[in-house]
Amino acid sequence: MSEPTRLCALVELPDGAAERFDVDGHRLCVVRLGESVYVIGDRCSHADVSLSEGEIEDCTIECPKHGSAFDLRTGAALSLPAVRPVPTYRSTVVDGDVLVELHDPAEVTSAGAS
Ligand code: FES
Repeated sequence: MSEPTRLCALVELPDGAAERFDVDGHRLCVVRLGESVYVIGDRCSHADVSLSEGEIEDCTIECPKHGSAFDLRTGAALSLPAVRPVPTYRSTVVDGDVLVELHDPAEVTSAGAS
C-alpha cells in the first residue's frame, strides 16, 4: 500500500473544471466539484486524448474528441464510441490539501465500484 501523494491545495483547483496532473508516470484528470475531488485516468479509453480538456456536466466528463461521457465516480464509459472504463483513483482532502492514492491502473479497472 503506497502513501497518498499530495497533488495541490483544494483552492488551487477551479470549481467545476478539470485539470491535468502528471505524477510518477500517471496521467491524471482531476475534477473539483465543490468540496469533492474526483481523479480518473486522463487518457480516453477510445484513443489517446486528454479527458481533462473535456466538458464537465453533473458528475461526468465528456471526451473532447468524439464526445464519450465518463462517470467521474466510477470511470465507466456512459456513451459511445468509448466502451471501456478509465481508471479511477481514490482521493481525499486533508487540511485543505488534495491527496491521491496512485496505483497501477490495471488493478482498478477490474475492482469495480466501492
Ligand atoms: S477519443 Fe475519446 S471518445 Fe474518441
